[in-house]
Amino acid sequence: MDFAARLKTALREKTARVGVIGLGYVGLPMARLAAESGFQVTGVDVDADRIQRINRGESYILDVPTPSLKPLVERGLVKATEDYAALAGMDVVLITVPTPLNKTGDPDMGYVIAAMESLKPHLHQGMLIILESTTYPGTTEDLFLPAIREAGFTEGEDLFVAFSPERVDPGNPKYGVKNTPKVVGGLTPAGTEVAEAFYREIVDKVVPVSSATSAEMVKIYENTFRAINIGLANELAIICNLLGIDVWEIVEAAGTKPFGFMPFYPGPGLGGHCIPIDPGYLAWRMRTLKYKTRFIELATEVNSKMPEWVVTRVMEMLNDAGKAINGSRILLLGVSYKSDIDDLRESPAIDVYELLQRRGAKVCYHDPYCPNMQVDHSTAESVPLDAKTIRDQDLVLITTGHRQRVDYGLVLREARLLFDTRNVTRGMKGKAKVVYL
Ligand SMILES: NC(=O)c1ccc[n+]([C@@H]2O[C@H](COP(=O)([O-])OP(=O)(O)OC[C@H]3O[C@@H](n4cnc5c(N)ncnc54)[C@H](O)[C@@H]3O)[C@@H](O)[C@H]2O)c1
Repeated sequence: MDFAARLKTALREKTARVGVIGLGYVGLPMARLAAESGFQVTGVDVDADRIQRINRGESYILDVPTPSLKPLVERGLVKATEDYAALAGMDVVLITVPTPLNKTGDPDMGYVIAAMESLKPHLHQGMLIILESTTYPGTTEDLFLPAIREAGFTEGEDLFVAFSPERVDPGNPKYGVKNTPKVVGGLTPAGTEVAEAFYREIVDKVVPVSSATSAEMVKIYENTFRAINIGLANELAIICNLLGIDVWEIVEAAGTKPFGFMPFYPGPGLGGHCIPIDPGYLAWRMRTLKYKTRFIELATEVNSKMPEWVVTRVMEMLNDAGKAINGSRILLLGVSYKSDIDDLRESPAIDVYELLQRRGAKVCYHDPYCPNMQVDHSTAESVPLDAKTIRDQDLVLITTGHRQRVDYGLVLREARLLFDTRNVTRGMKGKAKVVYL
């Protein structure tokens, strides 16, 4: 039987069923997109609360507003379960589980392995499995091929496996999963072809590459490119500060060059589940081949020292105002890892908070997206951003430049000292003494 041809027909006719393992920042938008494209989608997660919320039509991901999810759930196009057995009826299974680094900086493939092991008893002929979790080049081949062979299938003939990196940019109003081209590489050409046929039904553009390993490398290269360029922008900020030059003016002016330059901006450090982590997968893989990834290591060193550098600048600002950091009241404004989202993972604001606190500062924070956060093993809660709270501070430190839901006018009116590490208050007037990164 030609399983590939049969699957392609089912995809075209939208009779194929789609399963998504891991309904987080990546999995839930994919599940919604597949359902909006006409597929019946079953999500599997180990988080019982998330399952219940989805089945009530309630979203917990900002990029998937509840009004867009609820009708799909009501029409039976999206449902969620903890039971992997539901995947036995699926034709396509996407795996979007976490791929963190462990404490020693090595990739933790535990979630991917657990997902594959749980899926294994429910594999069937004609199934297409696509790993979307970001990982080191070679993962799909290393982890999936042996498991599939062991289960008695022949990849590329009666079962298909591909890797397709998720490039979602949470909070981006212009580019979502549908209009961001999808790179796809299979373990075999047949795997690439059926995966391409699936994504063609749901996204605007599909970019096939020669193998799953190449598709994995594309994602790592993209994020390594960002990490290194942000590292350069951060070092430029340090250089400009020493030379008495405004780094923002330099980046903005250089950014007017219509070719051969792309602006990257400095900040208090790298955050999120991707940019600080993903280059680590490649560095780890290359260490196993005795090759040192020098660009990655240098960028990691510069980026990871930024919170410390920001705290040094805070100390200098307070010193200039005749104050010590010990005992000073400091409000961090914005703590998520980037603007207008609620994700705190790897946020440099947490490092800055902890460093200030350890030096004796009385720290609090305000973030309209993050009502609480874990700092130094305890929970801090967002304080209201009112005139009195701002006036009570010796210094306000903008760590995340939310563009919505923050009244910077009020901050500039009421703050005494303001350190803006994101350049969001540029051009705004007030009585606060403002220092930029
Ligand atoms: N968040 C992003 O912006 C982004 C962008 C591109 C790529 N990625 C990559 O996508 C992957 C997923 O990231 P995320 O941000 O969606 O993570 P997430 O933590 O938001 O979601 C992961 C989900 O997987 C579930 N899960 C964990 N183990 C499971 C298992 N064995 N079976 C079923 N469900 C399980 C968790 O409960 C959670 O709901 C990672 O590899 C990440 O690097 C993330």
